[in-house]
Amino acid sequence: MLEKIQKYKEEITALNIQSKAELEDFRLKFLSKKGLIPSLFEDFKSVPNEQKKSLGAEINILKQFAEQIFADLQAKFEDANEGENDALLDLSLPAIPNHTGTRHPLAIIKNRIIEIFARVGFSVAEGPEIEDDWHNFSALNFPENHPAREMQDTFFVMRNPDLALRTHTSSVQVRTMEKQKPPIRILSPGRVFRNEAITARAHCFFHQIEGLYINEKVSVKDLKDTLLYFAKELFGKETKIRMRPSYFPFTEPSVEIDVSCMICGGKGCNVCKHSGWVEIMGAGMVDPNVLENCGIDSATYSGFAFGMGIERITMLKYQIKDLRLFSENDVRFLRQFHHVV
Ligand code: DAH
Repeated sequence: MLEKIQKYKEEITALNIQSKAELEDFRLKFLSKKGLIPSLFEDFKSVPNEQKKSLGAEINILKQFAEQIFADLQAKFEDANEGENDALLDLSLPAIPNHTGTRHPLAIIKNRIIEIFARVGFSVAEGPEIEDDWHNFSALNFPENHPAREMQDTFFVMRNPDLALRTHTSSVQVRTMEKQKPPIRILSPGRVFRNEAITARAHCFFHQIEGLYINEKVSVKDLKDTLLYFAKELFGKETKIRMRPSYFPFTEPSVEIDVSCMICGGKGCNVCKHSGWVEIMGAGMVDPNVLENCGIDSATYSGFAFGMGIERITMLKYQIKDLRLFSENDVRFLRQFHHVV
């Protein structure tokens, strides 16, 4: 009898019960009224008295062991099946919705901008977020003592003051021109960093898209036509653009591009501060010094460049009033864009 007890114990220990059905087989075989363990108690009746004490103890240990396994597994399968069982109550209920993620609004607008420029031959070029002084500043014609190089704007890498987090994606212009021969038509989206206090209107990191076109005989008219095409595609066919003179070290002449307000159509509203126009980017003809710095002959080639903030454009498109929403990852904000692909 002791052998039997030992054998059952080994058998139970070796079991690998994975389902409710297997657990029921286990119960029937060992624990049910006609099961093996109750039958041990039957046999026990005919055991000589002097063995009763020790054998009785052994049978009880086996019984408790089997019952414990049964209880544990039963609880485990109940938990796992809880949801399933609820759904099985009414098969005509609609399926449980499958919540997929949504695209971030900045990604939606970035992709749309890339798509618009891709149609007229621009391809995407990317560069590093940690950049050296040459690509972020010097090659772009920033004078040695230009305020943008100073600590308040730029995050420098402490171990190597020649390195900084790029302050704009214009650095990718330089990297591309150093590697490729004209004609060049690139768009470079990416994250940029500035040492600014975080508010509704400013952040220490944001995203830009830089554009660059270099070829023979590129003119201001090409710049204007390209950006007018872009503005109409992004904001609607009625959109107008205007250029205001501005200054950037890497372009000459430099301009700022305004579009007619997409909210009021130019009549004047809160978004355009009643001017009818909203600024969307900086642009200009690439300064010949920049071309030469990158090994491109400025007597043969000319080109235009432009740079825009993706946050700014996205805020205009979706009427978003606080820049911080983009990086807080609050799903109540992010979910609102689920209908846009
Ligand atoms: N890099 C400028 C900035 O971050 C934006 C810019 C202005 C880019 C004019 C350009 C440009 O390519 O031509 O403010």
